Amino acid sequence: MRSPIYWHPFFYQAAIKLTFGKSFISRYEKLAKHIPENSNLLELCMGDAYLFLNYLKPKNINYTCVDVNSTFVNAAKKKGLNALQLNIETDEIAKADYVLMQGSLCYFIPNEKHIIQKLLDACNKQLIISENIENISNSDSKLKSYLAEKFSDAGVGQSKIKFTKEFIENTFSDFKSQIKVWEVSPNNKEIIIVLSKH
Ligand SMILES: C[S@@+](CC[C@H](N)C(=O)[O-])C[C@H]1O[C@@H](n2cnc3c(N)ncnc32)[C@H](O)[C@@H]1O
Repeated sequence: MRSPIYWHPFFYQAAIKLTFGKSFISRYEKLAKHIPENSNLLELCMGDAYLFLNYLKPKNINYTCVDVNSTFVNAAKKKGLNALQLNIETDEIAKADYVLMQGSLCYFIPNEKHIIQKLLDACNKQLIISENIENISNSDSKLKSYLAEKFSDAGVGQSKIKFTKEFIENTFSDFKSQIKVWEVSPNNKEIIIVLSKH
């Protein structure tokens, strides 16, 4: 069953604010720096589209976003965004110069490498991925871990496990030659990886 945090962007945003606490703003600020002005951007799994609405809008970006959750897609449309409802595991993805995925690669385990390749195929210039690498579903507390997994169900099944730094290193080892940016946050909780087409 879809977790309550995916019932409305408002609930989702509250959960993210609670999870990230003091690093909520830097989560977006750091990522926004990697998206150039006047670019053509496809954001996958945009959720509440907080990054675009609060950080990218002034950059005159030609923006399309995709999510499997119809509530999020409709909410984005109401805000005037070009939003599409797609399951990126099974549906075709249109091409864009820059393709972005924030905090969502963990949903595709154990097919994460296949998804990275699919996103690379969809971008003309760069693929930008950010991921949480120290997540409460990796917590030593069994209860915390259980709840985190239950709340991760976006409607297509809950994310099985989350990434650790080692898991991320292993996942991207197949794409080594394309990695242009490997940026771990000072608190070791997040990573931004930029893969280049050329
Ligand atoms: C943890 S949220 C991330 C939202 C936003 N990018 C952020 O970082 O705040 C994961 C998002 O991935 C979406 N999602 C999960 N599986 C998907 C799939 N197979 N295709 C498209 N979107 C999917 C969910 O609906 C949800 O909005």
